[in-house]
Amino acid sequence: MWTELKTKAASVDGRAILDLFDEARADEFAVQTQYMRFDYSKTNIDTDTRALLLALAGSANVAARRDAMFAGEKINETEGRAVLHTALRNLDGGPVHVDGEDVMPGVLDTLARMEDYAGEVRCSDITDVVNIGIGGSDLGPAMAVQALSPYHDGPRVHFVSNVDGAHIADTLRGLDAKTTLVIVASKTFTTIETMTNARTARAWMQDHGGDPGAQFAALSTNLEKTSEFGIPEARVFGFEDWVGGRYSMWGPIGLSVMLAIGPDGFRAFLRGGQEMDRHFCAAEGAENMPLMLALVGIWHRQVLGHATRAVLPYDQRLGQLPDYFQQLEMESNGKSVTMDGGAVPEESGPVVWGAPGTNGQHAFYQLIHQGTSVIPCEFMVACEGHEPELRHHHDLLVANCLAQSEALMRGRSLDEARAKIADKFEGTELERQAAHRVFAGNRPSTTLIYPKLDPFTLGQIVALYEHRVFVEGVILGINSYDQWGVELGKELATALQPIVEGEAPADDKDGSTQALVRYLHTHR
Ligand code: F6P
Repeated sequence: MWTELKTKAASVDGRAILDLFDEARADEFAVQTQYMRFDYSKTNIDTDTRALLLALAGSANVAARRDAMFAGEKINETEGRAVLHTALRNLDGGPVHVDGEDVMPGVLDTLARMEDYAGEVRCSDITDVVNIGIGGSDLGPAMAVQALSPYHDGPRVHFVSNVDGAHIADTLRGLDAKTTLVIVASKTFTTIETMTNARTARAWMQDHGGDPGAQFAALSTNLEKTSEFGIPEARVFGFEDWVGGRYSMWGPIGLSVMLAIGPDGFRAFLRGGQEMDRHFCAAEGAENMPLMLALVGIWHRQVLGHATRAVLPYDQRLGQLPDYFQQLEMESNGKSVTMDGGAVPEESGPVVWGAPGTNGQHAFYQLIHQGTSVIPCEFMVACEGHEPELRHHHDLLVANCLAQSEALMRGRSLDEARAKIADKFEGTELERQAAHRVFAGNRPSTTLIYPKLDPFTLGQIVALYEHRVFVEGVILGINSYDQWGVELGKELATALQPIVEGEAPADDKDGSTQALVRYLHTHR
C-alpha cells in the first residue's frame, strides 16, 4: 500500500489543492460529529488517496488493535503492559479486564477519593497548589489548567517541572507555606527532577511554618516510594502501570485540574474523552475523526515526506497544547524500531511544534508561507470565546485563522504580486520587488473547529489526538507506549553529576565534555 500511495503522491505532485474544490469537497473531506468538525479539504487528498489511506489502515489492522487496546490486552509489548488510559474515563461503561480482573471498581474508587479530597481542599484555607512533576506528570495538567481558566473556582494552581532551581524558587517566592498544598506527581516516584524539587519544597515548607505532614499529596503507581517519602496513604492517589505517563491526566495526575475547576468540571472533561472513545470505536472509515486525522498525518509525513507539522490553536488558553502534543506524539512515535525489533520501514513520527495564533503569525509564519520546506499546519479554533463583551476580538481571531489556511492554499502568483505594486515600481525593479511578494501557495492545512473550549470539548480534543497517535503508531508498527529513547541521557546525567560536583574525575569522558567541565569549574 505504501508503494501505491507514493505512486499516487508522485502523480498528483504540484496539483493545485484549490482546483480540487467543487461544491461537495468541503463536506466530503471533513468529519463532523455532534460536537466538532475536522476539515481536511485543504490538503491534496482526493477520493482515491483517501481510499488508499483507509486500505493502509485496514492492512495494519487498526480496528483490531483498537479493540485489543480497549479490551485491556497487553498491546504495550516491550513492557508487557495493557494500555488503558481509556478506562480512566469509562465513567458509565462496562467492565474492563486486565489479567482477568475488572479494573473499573478500582478506577471509580480512586476517582471518588480524589473528588472527596478535592472537595475538602477547595473548602479549606489552601490558597495555592504546587504540582511538582515533569513530562506526562506536568504537561497535560498544566495545559488543561490554563485551557480551562474560565472554569476555575478553586485555589490557584502552579506547576514546577524543571530541575533548574530557578523554577521552584520563582514559583515558591510569594507563596504562603501555611496555605500551600504540594502535590508530588510522578508515575514512578523516582524521577530525579521531581524528587529533587519535592525535597526542596518540603524543606521550604518546614522552614516557613507549613506542615509537610499535612500539606503534601502524592500521585503515583509506586506506593512504596510515596510512603518512604513520608506521605500518608490517605493523601496518596495511586494508579496502575497500564496508564502511560503522557496519557495519565485522566486519573490521579489530573488532580490539580480537579482542584482548579472542581469535580463536576473534571467529570465533564472525562466525559469529553469518553465521547471521543465511543466515536473512535463506532464510526466507520472516513467518518472516524481520529482515524482521518491520523491518515492525514501519515500522508503528510510518511508519504510526502514533510518532516514537521505545526499545531496552531487560535485559542490563547491552548497556549501549552503544542508542548503537550509534542510529548504525546514525539515520545510515542519517535522510534525507529518496530514492535518485533526490525527497522521501521518508513519515517518515524514528525517533529511537532507550534504556538497559538495570532502570535505565531508575527513570529514564524513567514517561513510557513515562503520558506523552502512545506509545513502542514493544524489549525484549531472555537466558534465562541468566553468573553461575550469582547466578541469583536473573537471575530478577528477567527478571521485570522481562516485567512491563514486560505492564504496557505491560495498563495499569490507573480502576476498578482506585480499587479499589487505596479503603481510603485516599473521595469526590472518591478520584477525584482514582485518576486519577493510571491507566495507559492498549495500548502496543506487542516482545521478543527469546535463550539467553545469547555471541559467537555477539551476532553474530546485530547482524546482525539491520543487516538491519532495510536493509529499512526499501529500503521508504522511502532509501540507508541514505551520511551526507551529517554533512558541513555538519564543514565549519563547520573554518571556526570559527581563529575560536575567536582567529586569525580572526567577522565573517561570525551574531549568536548572534559573541556566543558574544565570551563565550568574555572568559571564558578
Ligand atoms: O523521561 C520520560 C518520562 O518517563 C516520561 O515518559 C514521563 O512522562 C516523565 O518521564 C515523568 O515520569 P514520572 O511520572 O515517572 O516522574
